[in-house]
Amino acid sequence: MSTYFVSSPIYYVNDRPHIGHIFTTFVVDTIARYRRLRGDEVFCLTGTDEHGQKIERAAAARGLEPIALADEVVAVYHRLWAELGISHDDFIRTTEARHIAGVREIVARIAASGDFYLNHHEGLYCTACEVFYTEKELLAGNRCPIHESACEPRSEQNLFFRLSKYQQALLDLYERQPGFIKPEIRANEMKQFVASGLRDLSVSRSNVQWGIPFPGHEGHTIYVWLDALSNYITALGFGQPDPGLYQKFWAEGDERVHIVGKDILRFHSVYWPAFLLSAGLPLPTTVWAHGFWLRDERKIAKSGGNIFRPNHLIERFGGDPLRYFLLREMVFGQDASFSDEAFVDRFNSDLANDLGNTLSRLVTVSRKAFAGRSSDRRSDALKAASEAAIADYRRAMDGFAFQEALRALWRLLQETNQYLVQNEPWKKIGGPNSGQVGEVLWTSCEALRLIAVALLPIMPDKAARILESLACPVADSLDALAWGGLPCGVPLPAPAPLFPRIDKAVFLAEISADSPQEKKIVTTVPPKPDPDAAPAGTSPKINYDQFMNVELRVAAVVAAERVPKSSKLLLLTLDAGEAEKRTVVAGIAKAYEPEALVGRQVIIVANLEPAKLMGVESNGMVLAASEDGLPILLAPERAVPPGTRVR
Ligand code: MSP
Repeated sequence: MSTYFVSSPIYYVNDRPHIGHIFTTFVVDTIARYRRLRGDEVFCLTGTDEHGQKIERAAAARGLEPIALADEVVAVYHRLWAELGISHDDFIRTTEARHIAGVREIVARIAASGDFYLNHHEGLYCTACEVFYTEKELLAGNRCPIHESACEPRSEQNLFFRLSKYQQALLDLYERQPGFIKPEIRANEMKQFVASGLRDLSVSRSNVQWGIPFPGHEGHTIYVWLDALSNYITALGFGQPDPGLYQKFWAEGDERVHIVGKDILRFHSVYWPAFLLSAGLPLPTTVWAHGFWLRDERKIAKSGGNIFRPNHLIERFGGDPLRYFLLREMVFGQDASFSDEAFVDRFNSDLANDLGNTLSRLVTVSRKAFAGRSSDRRSDALKAASEAAIADYRRAMDGFAFQEALRALWRLLQETNQYLVQNEPWKKIGGPNSGQVGEVLWTSCEALRLIAVALLPIMPDKAARILESLACPVADSLDALAWGGLPCGVPLPAPAPLFPRIDKAVFLAEISADSPQEKKIVTTVPPKPDPDAAPAGTSPKINYDQFMNVELRVAAVVAAERVPKSSKLLLLTLDAGEAEKRTVVAGIAKAYEPEALVGRQVIIVANLEPAKLMGVESNGMVLAASEDGLPILLAPERAVPPGTRVR
């Protein structure tokens, strides 16, 4: 049995999870699940990066100790990963004693190699990246090339790591092990970066308290990237009393794979191997850098522009459809564009229609034809097509080409559908040729079973439910991808809809009423907090004039009615003291009956741009607090004339 170590990056705790964290973790979990099914002994690692100035400052901004902020965000991560069914074997926090012990050991080994030296250092520092830049690397006005925010001049005595000493060893590594950095385009970028000359790296901070003290250098803390990268082996017990997992999965492990975003590839494919070489420790076998999710085609900057959270999709549909969408839509390694519209389209066509309808049709027809059971007439009609698709799927999954893998499965789904349409078994039930009906149904259900087994790493929950519908066990090995495993003549449960079709117009209107600004995804530096759940005081400050530009007014509800087909939206007619009444669409139907609102006063944003929601023009926004997802309307303490300004 081979061992397979796969890791996500460890996530900063200054921010709550967003699409980047969710996507990388989905990928890592998919790989881990696939490898387990393939028969490997897998160790899947994720966790949080909790030290450094960025965290120190974010905590101070909220009047918290850094560890209190970290605990709060870590709890959010644990909840989310449980909700999304992430199957990690460990979650490492860099503030844990086991990690700190391991980092000290790595630092001691690097020190023993003579690769640290003290030097005076002046440079321009980006706190968001936790990186010093040279003027050459910066944008005009000494702004960070990633975050576009101004870098701070720093002058301090630092410990340096002799990165330059490892230039040739790194180039040799890339040459010797062509798959070390994936995809190739990124490998070439890294080779060029190293070949153009490596400067020694400052690896201690004397102005940052929130970090691991640098052994032997009082007043210095260990540079957060040296601290963070070490997590991959400290989580396995390196430098601790029981390094058993380290021996098994790293030192003697077969594959050691890091999945990272392209923005942090340099740290993983240049600095990390150099640290390990210096410490005399084995290197990862592959560092895979994926691209970025862009929102509505807009360029993304790491913690600057366009960070977004697909919470509304997870809340409504669970994790699996989002997981399917992200893996299906992106060519792994390249950037891809995210939009709610694209999500709904793919959900409806691929999941509700192709997969869900085919399954429920097959189960319904089989139950009808065979008195509540599956067919007992085997046939190999779809065997060749299935075997070809499964072979393509496996090749693609082995190479992390998730989109290709899913395309192969959907090709088989379409072939199955065509075959069904050609044979129309539903028209032949009870006819003279029930044997043929049985064969058509068996072979089609078998193709679907194979698709479901293959989907287990990608949509673990939904795939298990498809297998249940076909009265098949949830597979624990890819051996189940061999043709012929579908049981004959067993009772089939009545089909439950797996992917109920989404009414696109209703859905898009509801989410934009929930958070109009999410629709166009607000971009802020620092990242935009979720309007509902973000702790107070973490949004960027606005000045008085900016606040006064928002026209808040009291309005009286004159009439209220439900928006047809929507469970969330009400159409309110409001008197805001103007010549004409205005209509506002508000996402409050889950908490308020329309009749009970008439005569009440509310507070509105009166100068919001009009927006069309489900064909109705909405002129403004009604203010509400939100608790457990339910809105609570705001109102003046006692009635005032409609139109009264609120400030
Ligand atoms: N703490 C470091 C990693 C240390 S690993 C030893 C870090 N943390 S992070 O929270 O900022 O990282 C988030 C991950 O999300 C990175 O892999 C980053 O590339 C990824 N993404 C951030 N925004 C993203 C998208 N819009 N799309 C896809 N992934 C992107 O960096």
